Amino acid sequence: MLVVDFGAQYAQLIARRVREAHVYSEIVPHTATAADLVARRPSGIILSGGPKSVNETPAPTIDPAIYTTGIPILGICYGAQLLTQQLGGEVSRTGRGEYGRTPLTATASSPLFVDWPGVVEVWMSHADAITAVPEGFVATATSPDAPVAALHDPGRGIYGVQFHPEVVHTERGRDLLERFLYDVCRCPPSWTHTSIIEAQVDAVRAQVGSSPVLCALSGGVDSAVAAALVHKAVGDQLTCVYVDTGLMRAHESEQVEETFRRQFRVELVHVKAADRFFEALAGVIEPETKRKIIGELFIRIFEEVARDLVVEHLEPVSGGTTATATAAPAADREVAGYLVQGTLYPDVIESGSDSAATIKSHHNVGGLPEDLAFDLVEPLRLLFKDEVRAVGEELGLPHDIVWRQPFPGPGLAVRIVGEVTPERAEILRAADAIVVEEIRRAGLYRDLWQSFAVLPAVRTVGVMGDGRTYAYPVVIRAVTSDDAMTADWARLPYDLLERLSSRIINEVEGVNRVALDITSKPPGTIEWE
Ligand code: XMP
Repeated sequence: MLVVDFGAQYAQLIARRVREAHVYSEIVPHTATAADLVARRPSGIILSGGPKSVNETPAPTIDPAIYTTGIPILGICYGAQLLTQQLGGEVSRTGRGEYGRTPLTATASSPLFVDWPGVVEVWMSHADAITAVPEGFVATATSPDAPVAALHDPGRGIYGVQFHPEVVHTERGRDLLERFLYDVCRCPPSWTHTSIIEAQVDAVRAQVGSSPVLCALSGGVDSAVAAALVHKAVGDQLTCVYVDTGLMRAHESEQVEETFRRQFRVELVHVKAADRFFEALAGVIEPETKRKIIGELFIRIFEEVARDLVVEHLEPVSGGTTATATAAPAADREVAGYLVQGTLYPDVIESGSDSAATIKSHHNVGGLPEDLAFDLVEPLRLLFKDEVRAVGEELGLPHDIVWRQPFPGPGLAVRIVGEVTPERAEILRAADAIVVEEIRRAGLYRDLWQSFAVLPAVRTVGVMGDGRTYAYPVVIRAVTSDDAMTADWARLPYDLLERLSSRIINEVEGVNRVALDITSKPPGTIEWE
């Protein structure tokens, strides 16, 4: 199924819903021509919603030749209005839009409304309305302020709905999409997590042949799932590199060891580099400088390991050491191997689409060493985050890794406001472990986008027992979010906050005060630096 993107991420939700119905979907920009779309041989095309009005100029359109390809088409909201307008119907600003839950009445039978009750609640979000259907079309539903809330021309296989079947508030929304996919487009529901794994395993094998493959593990879910998938494909051709920067969360290093070395029996190079990172960060306060130092040092260490491994592979030295050897210049040799990256589908869409409003740039630690001749293996590049997690579960990765909240590449360094020292990292790690443990115990871990501790490196006065204390405060930061672009502070229960406060102060030496961050994003960011 191809989902045409008219901006503002409506297309992503539709594509996910289609996949949840076990039909593979991809997002394409609205600038694609009908010939481009036909060349992909889709079983159907969905025109997504969008933030514009079809009567604005400029407003995004689609090559009208798609309507004569014979490929079934479903227009949703903006998509329905666009196809109406392009095929000769009318879309007007009636002055009465609909937003939110709206009762919908079917006025004619439709293959999309099988066995529906007389009235269903649907989710609407439109200012314009379809006021006249194009020739050959019939209106199939109506709502109080949308005279044509659904329309179709079944002969040409073209359907449109003013409401949003992809949102959970639309009763029967999922059913409507399934009718379109299974009955109109005749797509079998065969896209499953098992089929994803099989397809990716074959693709990775075909791509890398017998070459060595390297993967930088970060402790996070994406690199872990990518590594597990590649390992399933090429076994011990894969070497994983885990750089312990000293700025990881509690137990992260042990868990990577346990999972990859012991459970999966992956060749794992564990570089314990905390001293090098603390040394490089000494005296540094400015957040972007911290990020730059950590990013560069990470790459340097990764390169050192990669060079050794590549040299080992290219020039096996019997009993000798390769530690001092350097790799031949890239131009002098074939591709030395492959590097696994945990790129996800939203990153691919955002970098390739011209209509997504905001593109988030991520300064991930673990960028590609430029002068090593690696090709990229990106086994997750077609998957959404929830699919990555499901694949991870299916591959047997532990829940703790699969469901781990996001963690910034520079790690605890950007949660220590001020200079990063081993002592402060230790205090923050201990406080953070308590936050995570209590949030999990309260059953909130998966509902929160992120929940963690921050250590502003100032000291405050307190009193404990008979004595005065002068120690660090810890700030609790917990947010809900869908994509980290915006976030709200989580309303944590008071008894949970009380437990967090007393445990952190009692158990973590060096902390005498706990505060709660109640800033949403915007205006705040999720991290403190
Ligand atoms: P902010 O603080 O900008 O964070 O609201 C948004 C999301 O990005 C994560 N983040 C980072 N991730 N390297 C990363 O890999 C970084 O330097 C970095 N800074 C922030 C943050 O944890 C949140 O999920």
